[in-house]
Amino acid sequence: MSALFTPLTLRGVTLPNRVALAPMCQYSAGPDGLPTDWHRVHLGSRAVGGAGLIITEATAVVPEGRISPQDTGLWSDAHAEAWRPITAFITAQGSVPAVQLAHAGFKASTYRPWAERRGGVPDAEGGWSPVGPGAEPFLPDYRTPTALDEAGIAGVVEAFATAARRALDAGFAAVEIHAAHGYLLHEFLSPLTNHRTDGYGGDRAGRMRLTLEVARAVRAAVGEAVPVLTRISATDWVDGGWTVEDSVVLAGELAAAGVDLVDTSSGGAAARASIPVGPGYQVPLAARIRRDAGVPTGAVGLIVEPEQAEQIVAAGEADLVLLGRELLRDPYWPHRAAAKLTQPPTWPHQYTRAF
Ligand SMILES: Cc1cc2nc3c(=O)[nH]c(=O)nc-3n(C[C@H](O)[C@H](O)[C@H](O)COP(=O)(O)O)c2cc1C
Repeated sequence: MSALFTPLTLRGVTLPNRVALAPMCQYSAGPDGLPTDWHRVHLGSRAVGGAGLIITEATAVVPEGRISPQDTGLWSDAHAEAWRPITAFITAQGSVPAVQLAHAGFKASTYRPWAERRGGVPDAEGGWSPVGPGAEPFLPDYRTPTALDEAGIAGVVEAFATAARRALDAGFAAVEIHAAHGYLLHEFLSPLTNHRTDGYGGDRAGRMRLTLEVARAVRAAVGEAVPVLTRISATDWVDGGWTVEDSVVLAGELAAAGVDLVDTSSGGAAARASIPVGPGYQVPLAARIRRDAGVPTGAVGLIVEPEQAEQIVAAGEADLVLLGRELLRDPYWPHRAAAKLTQPPTWPHQYTRAF
């Protein structure tokens, strides 16, 4: 019996296997962050492909929280309505739809990767003025943020909670809070980017406060039966930055706040980080958090081989394996992996004549 193809129950939801589509921006939303047919076909294909958990791209809880003007959002009932056929199709395939709720902070209002220009999008091209823990831009060509005051911070917490409630309305069965990659929550966590002197800065407890307030608010908004995941950057990979020891403490506090699984990524707060990229390079971070904090984890980052994914779960390094780029290259990876790991065929009935 394959560990990777063993169901995973989180609260009231059971994933049919341990393979998840990692959240990936598609930069293809319609006006005002509405998901489009692209999202329906793209996410739907990965559900047909057999991933047990389908996590949407970073989906903004407020318009100014989008990374690019082409990002999806979930800040109105119209967004919930536009997501509904997408979640319905994913659910009909036996996969579990989850939304990654996000706020891009000082990395908001940037060009999508295939645009000719880089950095901050000006107002004249549909950009906006971002917010952050302070008033310094991430990079010289990014837009200069406004520092959030306490009312602004309370608004962010409320926006995550409201979006989480709307996510259930939209048919999502689970929620992931995006607290990684140098976006707003990570900007508050990391000493590299949080230089505040109020109760949301200073020592680790102060820097963790916003993320934990968001986690508690989201848990309260979705009730007890809905899984809440949180993606963190387990290390900044920079001396003097956020560390894996900090992440072990954060993971414990997140679990106490009602978070069920820590999706363990890394980096993003500092452009100068030197990241030891290689096969499964973030798996030891997930294993460390799982072992030392006693919290279920997801492993992500250059996991591409079925045997590699199987080993991560079988060895107890993580409870869930998230695949990003490999699932862009091959939406059917989960079915192929199941065949390789000698599971009974998992292909949809519609495709059985192919074999
Ligand atoms: C096109 C693209 C878009 C991404 N967008 C997001 C995102 O919206 N949210 C997020 O947490 N990570 C995002 N990521 C990171 C992936 O979720 C994943 O962590 C990363 O690609 C490493 O996994 P991989 O080696 O399997 O691709 C993105 C990655 C790619 C390639």
